[in-house]
Amino acid sequence: MPWYSEQQIEEVRSRSDIVEVIGSYVKLKRSGGGYVGLCPFHSEKSPSFSVNPAMQIYKCFGCGVGGNVLTFLMEYENLSFPEAMEQLAGRAGIELPEKEMTAEQRQREGLRQTLLEINTKAARFYYAMLKSPQGKLGYDYLIGRGLSRETIVHFGLGYAGQGGGELYRYLKGEGYPDSVLKETGLFKMDERGVYDKFWNRVMFPIMDVSSHVIGFGGRVMGDAKPKYLNSPETKIFDKSRNLFGLNYAKQGRRKNLILCEGYMDVIAMHQAGFTGAVASLGTAFTEQQASLLRRYTEEVLLIYDSDEAGVKAALRAIPILRRAGINGKVVHLEPYKDPDELIRQEGAGVFEERLERAENSFFFEVEAAKRQFDFADPEQKTKFYHEVARKLLIFTDKVQRDNYMEAVAARQGIRKEDLRQLVIHYGNQMPEGYQEQDRETRRERRKGDKPEEGIQYSYRLLLSWLIETPDLFGPIRERISPEDFLDERFGKVAAMLYEQLERGERELVAAKIISCFQDAESQKMVAQMFQTNYQTEMNREEREKALNELIVRIKEYSIDKRMRNLTDMSELEALIQEKKKWQTPEKLHISLKDG
Ligand code: UTP
Ligand code: MN
Repeated sequence: MPWYSEQQIEEVRSRSDIVEVIGSYVKLKRSGGGYVGLCPFHSEKSPSFSVNPAMQIYKCFGCGVGGNVLTFLMEYENLSFPEAMEQLAGRAGIELPEKEMTAEQRQREGLRQTLLEINTKAARFYYAMLKSPQGKLGYDYLIGRGLSRETIVHFGLGYAGQGGGELYRYLKGEGYPDSVLKETGLFKMDERGVYDKFWNRVMFPIMDVSSHVIGFGGRVMGDAKPKYLNSPETKIFDKSRNLFGLNYAKQGRRKNLILCEGYMDVIAMHQAGFTGAVASLGTAFTEQQASLLRRYTEEVLLIYDSDEAGVKAALRAIPILRRAGINGKVVHLEPYKDPDELIRQEGAGVFEERLERAENSFFFEVEAAKRQFDFADPEQKTKFYHEVARKLLIFTDKVQRDNYMEAVAARQGIRKEDLRQLVIHYGNQMPEGYQEQDRETRRERRKGDKPEEGIQYSYRLLLSWLIETPDLFGPIRERISPEDFLDERFGKVAAMLYEQLERGERELVAAKIISCFQDAESQKMVAQMFQTNYQTEMNREEREKALNELIVRIKEYSIDKRMRNLTDMSELEALIQEKKKWQTPEKLHISLKDG
């Protein structure tokens, strides 16, 4: 496995044009000195993703992702750092020599690769088991559910034996230590021993878009519970960012993709020729999954179970698709429970008709809302009309809203003029610039945010501040030195940033610094610093207060730490003096200019 020097990384980075590379994945439009487009990392309808050719970085003002051409490929294509290097080098016609990794680098990169390797081996093991006499039970079960031999092979289905330890023994025989096997999520380990997580189940390998096996789902063959058991999240398996079947569904140009709930539904649809079917993995549909779909299509047919839970899930998924810029449609299955059942009972022809008659997702939402009102009661009927008017406000495009208003009025027997008045009424109640979608997006995002704790957060803020406002370098340098960042990674970033700023370099700061970290986690951390959301909502006074508090906090933390770790008492006096200075920070106050 190759590893690269800073010079090599810099060469590959500087000879790759970020606009060209990102432009081959995302539609970019010129805007000012840069380019903008729809962010591929979160769902959005209006572009907040920008690419800066001068600095060779990208940044999304909506979700905060940012980085250089290498991090882009890593995130977008789900590549490791060396893989991204190889791909870019190939593109730029640069030959990369092989180089040894440090032990730590090898370990981190190696673990990911090893986990992928183990998952592949496990998939082959389960598959072989299915084909063996022991696996007859599983094989018969799948055939009994209408799957053909070819389908079983195509999806690599398998069987986990009844002993509860077959996979473990096999992988031990292959030489993997427990410490690594533990990370796969395929085993239960406790004081009494190690067991296979999956036993006596038919196995569905879960693959990412590049067809790497990243996890499994396993189904019991009877009515036992839980019906499906799934791999837990691991270093290589992030449920919110993957869709079962997408590695097949993404192939070929399609008018739409089909989003359903279950493994068996995907497989039944593919077998019947509807190869655009994918499933979210036993969890609620996420924004990341929506933007993943958006890479391949603009229209998604939602085909959730016809029970109450399925309707609810569809109602949750619709706004997520809408925010991703995907036109959602709802397929009706009644009287069947799910696509698998419908296809088995009625065949592909009837199924296809159902797909063609898929309902506009807005009408579906209105119908769902309607069921909550009793139309015999005029009060309730009025409330429903108001509800419809409010809902229409999700359309920010005037023509689109008018068209929907007209269509809904006709369908629901509401007088068009009445509905229009109500829409205007609710439209006027909104604060300026308010959009229903924005509110939903913000709420979703807050839920997903992991608050960063403690001093690290302060480090990140201060460095972001410097990156954004290099004019503050002078005053900040007088107060805080790179040694004050008591964290290896932040300290390294600070040192590099200071060095560049001292040389008066203001461009390329981002891209270069990111390149100096070779593991994805550190790169993400650095890339995060390049988001500029911190100060925008503050006025000058607030900014000034925040900046000064930040500096005092970092300085005090640093002095305290140094005092505690002191070995040479002669330094104590100096530290005490320094600490005193910071206890009356007024003298060290930085004043900000307006604007
Ligand atoms: P369903 O209960 O609708 O099952 O769950 P299904 O897809 O119709 O499965 P069959 O036809 O009975 O075999 C839908 C999906 O929810 C997840 C699985 O991904 C399943 O395919 N699920 C369900 C679980 O993860 N665990 C469970 O216990 C049940
Ligand atoms: Mn089913």
